[in-house]
Amino acid sequence: MIIQLRDSIFVGANVADKKKKMGLVKRLFLFGLVGFLGLLGVAFGGLYFASSSALAEERELAVEGIEIPEDDDDAVAHGKYLVDHVMGCSHSDCHQPDMGGGATIDAFPLGLVYAPNLTSGEGSVTKNYKPEDWVRTVRHGLKPDGTRALIMPSEDYWSFPDSDIGAVVSYIKSLPGVNRESKKHSLGPIGMLIVASEPVFAWEKIDHKAERPQASRGPTEEWGKVMIGACTGCHGATLSGGKIPGGDPSWPESRNITPDEATGIGNWEYEDFKNALQKGQRPDGATLHDAMPWKAYAGMQEDDVEALWKYLRTVPPKTSGGR
Ligand code: HEC
Repeated sequence: MIIQLRDSIFVGANVADKKKKMGLVKRLFLFGLVGFLGLLGVAFGGLYFASSSALAEERELAVEGIEIPEDDDDAVAHGKYLVDHVMGCSHSDCHQPDMGGGATIDAFPLGLVYAPNLTSGEGSVTKNYKPEDWVRTVRHGLKPDGTRALIMPSEDYWSFPDSDIGAVVSYIKSLPGVNRESKKHSLGPIGMLIVASEPVFAWEKIDHKAERPQASRGPTEEWGKVMIGACTGCHGATLSGGKIPGGDPSWPESRNITPDEATGIGNWEYEDFKNALQKGQRPDGATLHDAMPWKAYAGMQEDDVEALWKYLRTVPPKTSGGR
């Protein structure tokens, strides 16, 4: 009995002690939590500030206008070909097949990145574009208000000649106006982090003073050097592939398309290249991820495919991942 009582007094003391300790642990935990949330708030505020100021930063560039053919069926048809099968503007993840715009990315925690309405309908951003505005946006990634276009891969279009850019605009202008609001970008925390830390603006990737390669369309290495502009945004300036800056984080890395035999396409034949580019089929039987726009390239004209292949044989072989 006495022993039992002593035991229970002992246990009682122990419980009081434990309660005190628990109180301390709880308080420490709460302090920690408040501190952590506070830090998170500060970090989020910093990120918000850094990404919104990056979006609002302005640049200037004087450019010359180009001729935009009017009522010219050939130009409209050529523009449609470029938009659908070479430049990928009408991709369903970008300006949409009707070019009335849509969400390029719309998922938490990336947020909403919106490709605007390019037709003449309500919600259009290009309604009052002068030829210089088209050139500045399409080739340099700079919008008429001086801010840099986000995600829009102008670095891919920079090398294309005036006649191609003119045809693209001619085609867009020939389309029926679509009434659809051009939404503003609204970034989530990871979207903000990417915008604040990665080179997601084409403007930063383009040498605006460089001389454009000159060639006319045909199955030649020289024309391939112009066309390859459409590939470097994803495959990198040296074409050796790697992580795609500003790309959806679920995308695989782009692959090495230099003639390196071990890690590139050095052992490929023209047919292998054609199958990969236009059918998404690798020689080992694997199907390429949709991030590689092979469904759009399926409609690429033979001369353009051949030109790309000829040019790709001439670039220095590099090991994978150097971009
Ligand atoms: C929007 C990004 C993007 C663009 C633009 C792009 N590619 Fe790709 N490409 C990729 C990705 C990502 C892969 C890898 C896909 C995979 O591994 O499933 C790839 C794979 C390839 C492959 C297969 C290589 C191999 O070893 O299997 C070839 C060939 C290729 N691209 C050629 C081109 C050419 C030529 C162009 C330009 C006309 C081009 N790509 C434009 C993203 C792109």
